[in-house]
Amino acid sequence: MQIRIPRGWEIPEALATPEHLVFGRRKAAALGVGLLAAPAAAWAQQADALPAMRNTRYPPGRDITAEREVTTFNNFYEFGSHKGISRAAQALPQRPWTVKVEGMVETPREFGIEDLLRTMPLEERVYRLRCVEAWSMVVPWTGFPLSALLAAVKPLGSARYVVFETAAIPTVMPGLRQSWYPWPYTEGCTIAEAANELSFMVVGAYGKLLPPQNGGPIRFHQPWKYGFKAGKSIVRIALTDQRPVSFWERIQPQEYGFWANVNPEVPHPRWSQASERVLGGNARVPTQLFNGYGEFVSGLYTGLSNERLWA
Ligand code: MTE
Repeated sequence: MQIRIPRGWEIPEALATPEHLVFGRRKAAALGVGLLAAPAAAWAQQADALPAMRNTRYPPGRDITAEREVTTFNNFYEFGSHKGISRAAQALPQRPWTVKVEGMVETPREFGIEDLLRTMPLEERVYRLRCVEAWSMVVPWTGFPLSALLAAVKPLGSARYVVFETAAIPTVMPGLRQSWYPWPYTEGCTIAEAANELSFMVVGAYGKLLPPQNGGPIRFHQPWKYGFKAGKSIVRIALTDQRPVSFWERIQPQEYGFWANVNPEVPHPRWSQASERVLGGNARVPTQLFNGYGEFVSGLYTGLSNERLWA
């Protein structure tokens, strides 16, 4: 039986819980204060609400992008090679959903999405996302550190890379008919990058469950890398000692590499990466090295000068 989860925007605006109450709510619950009576009625109707305390350690330095922009301008090639896939992506069933975590680990496991929502340390992080196509957005994601998930399976000392494999369901993903693409969409990073505090498994956005067009029910995000590294709708995470060749790297290795760290001084072979268009308007802002997250991640790359770190 298919359970239909109503999306947050299906309720009238007047019933939506204001953001400050949403975020105040979890804090109140944590303090044992209980739920506030007035917003509770509206709350009950917002079936996909996923409130979490905001972690303020990563200030985005820019305004949050309007939810509508983020949820209607997407890259998700499984649904088509254009930005307007948000409606088509609603066909992706969000439940049941499991993520296998296996390979070079002591205790391989298959996690149900509900178990992850219940057991992982959820928090909200407002991260910038810089697409290799030179547009960017700022999104309040809800999720948990990848390191928390990996701790649950105990990686072996010999594991060197983490591979993310995303859903490939031909009955709902028309893009899979484009057989020249190397489906499933696969991405990866090193164990050290996976252990970095910024590496984030995303299960929500804007205080709600992550919508399918943004990679619901679970995606990855490393905000210092170009957005194509952020696999959407993940079904399998594997630890390995072999460097994975990812989706775009397999198609165009001279344009898209394994590391793909943001660097304004290294142009894409076909366009400059010096600046980016902020979604929601035509404003352009200068792109920052490591997308502005250098203080957290630059140490990961010392001694790797022989690697093509930037694209
Ligand atoms: N994941 C899958 N499975 N399929 C994709 O086509 N596109 C990537 C990434 N993850 C993609 C994917 C690219 S190129 C970007 S920029 C981001 O998702 C876009 O995320 P967004 O649509 O939430 O902005």
